[in-house]
Amino acid sequence: MEAPQKNLAMDLVRVTEAAALACARWLGRGDKDAADKAAVDAMRLCFNSMDIEGTVMIGEGEKDDAPMLFNGEKLGRGGDTKVDIAVDPLEGTNLLAFGRPNAISVVGVAPAGTMFDPGPSYYMQKLVVPSAAKNVVDIEAPTQHNLKYIAKALDKDVDDLVVFVLDKPRHKKLISEIREAGARIQLHTDGDITGSLMAIDPRSEVDVMMGTGGTPEGVLSAIAIRIMGGEMFCKLDPQRQDEKNALAEAGMDLRRVYKVADLVAADDLFFAATGISGGTFLKGVKYTGHGAETSSLVMRGKTGTIRYVEAIHDWESLMKFSAVQYD
Ligand code: FBP
Repeated sequence: MEAPQKNLAMDLVRVTEAAALACARWLGRGDKDAADKAAVDAMRLCFNSMDIEGTVMIGEGEKDDAPMLFNGEKLGRGGDTKVDIAVDPLEGTNLLAFGRPNAISVVGVAPAGTMFDPGPSYYMQKLVVPSAAKNVVDIEAPTQHNLKYIAKALDKDVDDLVVFVLDKPRHKKLISEIREAGARIQLHTDGDITGSLMAIDPRSEVDVMMGTGGTPEGVLSAIAIRIMGGEMFCKLDPQRQDEKNALAEAGMDLRRVYKVADLVAADDLFFAATGISGGTFLKGVKYTGHGAETSSLVMRGKTGTIRYVEAIHDWESLMKFSAVQYD
């Protein structure tokens, strides 16, 4: 295992900014494929300007048959810094395509060999809590039990809590259990990386995230949580028989409870996210006529430094990354 020696955090924010700048033009325009392609193209271009030897561990995914940023793809100009890379150039494709809040561009980097390989797993059940509540929850316990102990650990009443849940048919039971327990709920159609970040960010009104979302999104969230503090408990949660069969064939255990340290086994981590459509967590891309403004979160695990970066981009520089929007 080789640890990266360089602070890549500020390079990474250029990567997510480029992806966000390139795809934000598609806000509300109903074309999620064009938006995704713009984000992928810009992100890849930017990654390949970095002095790293990177391997994409969490990429656009086989299920999308992605031509770029696929799992196993090599990124960077090379060098001694060997890293595993997790990308989600456009997290919340539908959020952007339908003009909803909280579409973001996200990347995470870890020393080579330390990132969990999701194999054929698409979905995971997740429970994300701030540090103060990490020792009092059990992903296998009833919802009511967890909410009671989370509230106690946060010195709140259960009806003070806000739970982030993806608004999916599979969460019908979970939502009624949360309601019965008396907690409040934020329902979002997509975007559980944002949900995870909000659960551990003391500045956000969300206290906990519960429910099943993407496994790749789980690994990206784990990188941020390992840096910021808090904990995520997960279990593989296949949603279809073919996923279940593939997991059995790969010998992956559906009973195992994964924690952040199982998904990323190093502290020398880097994470960046840039807002695309705007929302409750990061502001979206604002085009100004002469350029654009972006809002990002940048973190480095080794030092624990968390930066919120507001950037002003010059129109001409922007054009270099935005071939699609200026064609
Ligand atoms: P995409 O950007 O790939 O559309 O993912 C959005 C998302 O909502 C993730 O945040 C979440 O983990 C996953 O999809 C949930 O999957 P599904 O929409 O299939 O339930």
